[in-house]
Amino acid sequence: MSPVGAVGQPFTRLEGHDKVTGTARYAVEYPADGMAYAMIVPATIVRGVITGVRTEAASALAGVLAVLHHGNAPRLAAGVDAELYRLQEPTVHFRGQAVAVVVAETIEAAREAARLVHLDYDVQPHRTELSDQDPGLYQPGHVNPSYPTDVSAGDFDAGFAAAPVRLDLAYRTPSYHNSPLEPHASTAQWRDGQLLVHDASQGTLPAQELLSRLFELPMESVRVVNAHIGGGFGGKLYVKIQTVLAAMAARVVDRPVRLALTRQQMFGPVGYRTPTIQRVRLGADRDGRIAAVAHDAVSQTSTVTEFAEQTAVYTRNMYAAPNRRTTHRVVRLDVPTPFWMRAPGYTPGSFALESALDELALACGLDPVELRLRNDTTVDPESGHPFTSRNLAACLTDGARRFGWSDRDPTPGSRREGRWRYGTGMAGSSYPARIRPAAASAAAYADGTFEVRINAADIGTGARTALWQVAADALGAPPQRVRIEIGDTALPYAEVAGGSTGLASWSWAVVRACERLCERLAELRGVVPAGGLLVEASSAEEVAAQATLPRFAYGAQFAEVRVDADTGEIRVRRLLGVFAVGRAVNPTTLRSQLVGGMTMGLSMALHEEGAFDDRYGTWANHDLASYHISSNADVPAVEAYWVTDEDSQLNPLGIKGAGEIGIVGAAAAIANAVHHATGVRVRELPVTLDKLLPG
Ligand code: MOS
Repeated sequence: MSPVGAVGQPFTRLEGHDKVTGTARYAVEYPADGMAYAMIVPATIVRGVITGVRTEAASALAGVLAVLHHGNAPRLAAGVDAELYRLQEPTVHFRGQAVAVVVAETIEAAREAARLVHLDYDVQPHRTELSDQDPGLYQPGHVNPSYPTDVSAGDFDAGFAAAPVRLDLAYRTPSYHNSPLEPHASTAQWRDGQLLVHDASQGTLPAQELLSRLFELPMESVRVVNAHIGGGFGGKLYVKIQTVLAAMAARVVDRPVRLALTRQQMFGPVGYRTPTIQRVRLGADRDGRIAAVAHDAVSQTSTVTEFAEQTAVYTRNMYAAPNRRTTHRVVRLDVPTPFWMRAPGYTPGSFALESALDELALACGLDPVELRLRNDTTVDPESGHPFTSRNLAACLTDGARRFGWSDRDPTPGSRREGRWRYGTGMAGSSYPARIRPAAASAAAYADGTFEVRINAADIGTGARTALWQVAADALGAPPQRVRIEIGDTALPYAEVAGGSTGLASWSWAVVRACERLCERLAELRGVVPAGGLLVEASSAEEVAAQATLPRFAYGAQFAEVRVDADTGEIRVRRLLGVFAVGRAVNPTTLRSQLVGGMTMGLSMALHEEGAFDDRYGTWANHDLASYHISSNADVPAVEAYWVTDEDSQLNPLGIKGAGEIGIVGAAAAIANAVHHATGVRVRELPVTLDKLLPG
């Protein structure tokens, strides 16, 4: 590292001023002459076939330019993506599926006309309820993104049967909906056969590739820009229907078209975290050493695409045990396809395993922190390889110290003050530290400034700022002299902001590009040519050559709750997390990611629940009034810290991702604290007062 030392400093976001003053443009804020507006018409049945489309009333409305449906929409290339192959066929696969789109002079006219499009359907019976007894459950070929479906080591059955302490527990989590402030939204415009799309996405490359295939264009004829994104959380990890329909509509009306989903349309049809049904079995010695662990997970997918949540994968690498088995089963239902949501799999899976460990600690009469320390391991229990870094124990002990855990009386229900019962709980946390290849360019100019370019995405994480800090240090330049440009397919190759891979991956390419520029400048004895000097570098070869080793971030979450002894009202009083996430590039934005993840976990523990109604094949709650998300009053001081976590086998700066780990384990810590306060164990989220009152 250079002595300049921008990395590690708490810079505020480069785009912060533009965002708070409203000058940062989001996907549907780019002006263009002749802008038209589109609105999706969703299917009002669950399963069936469209037998007629009546568009007269909609078309007659002033300002309506077009009504597109399967009978008149331009043809898309078939076999590219089943999910996005819309307005091509009369089949309805789930309620809310896009079946028509209206284009109009104003957003108001489009919305009104969308209500006037009338579809006739041949309605067929549907199956939408998840059950672990469903005869349609099957073993998918892999679980997301590419993990083996079932894994075993040792002999779980024998190990479990022989264990003196045995637990066999069932957990359930409901469906959850991503609600980024900016919904799925796109502006599409065609000019001379070239397509330009401003897209709310976690990365521009998937849209560039998909649009080029669907519309049969060369890749270089499609440019996608996502300079600012109003949150993603996984929901924007891949192309959503509005990107395709905006491009289609723009071509038909020969004008630029904006299409933003309504808030209601965000709840389900575009993806959600699958509900899960989980069984966890733990067999242990009386001193708490786990001899056998099994985690069996059931989740749902749609009839359109297979999406197999990796629910039990968390259990594969977290704690030692000689005998182990994890399985996943999926059923195809007449529901929208589930999708990515912050720490996919790890979030529902850690709720089950970390709750079960709390139950095991009680069964063994052990402190739950001590139980986890006893089952810590320096080698990955799956592969037998040593972890590249494993600072779980440091997180557990540092968290316990900061939280004041040692004063705790372990007896459930032992602490009461007036009408409030108090309790504390904790959980472990982990998330993979993955890397993807990337490329970046770096330029030096005669005025002493530099510019670094990479098609990275800042979905609100602070990635732009962190990359800028990395670039400044790699250039040995004051950060004020460095510019950074991201969020455009015209920039060097980078993959999506997903799987907590962004900064860890992009920084590698940025460092290499800056190093190469410095080498070239040294060859020129520091004299920048009048026209500037530009180099590009890729991390692809280095990333491909990297050994496959178990690389993870870790954490420990601690919660204190109070529960009203009469009403069962639950309040989180404190939430404290300590994490091992590699190098902290920017403490301000890192803390923000961790606190954000923990807050999402609090919301999951106590508030969020997609209330599915099988009769209508959809959620009864599909807006922010009825789908409860924790608000400020629900969220007390949330504290996030990190321990020193050096890892030389990751990437040049030893960066692990931190976007997702904050949610992992948070819900279990809170549910465990509720049990400590009340003696009532809730194994089905959310933990609500109705579930406490019988106890
Ligand atoms: Mo994350 S669910 O990979 O954006």
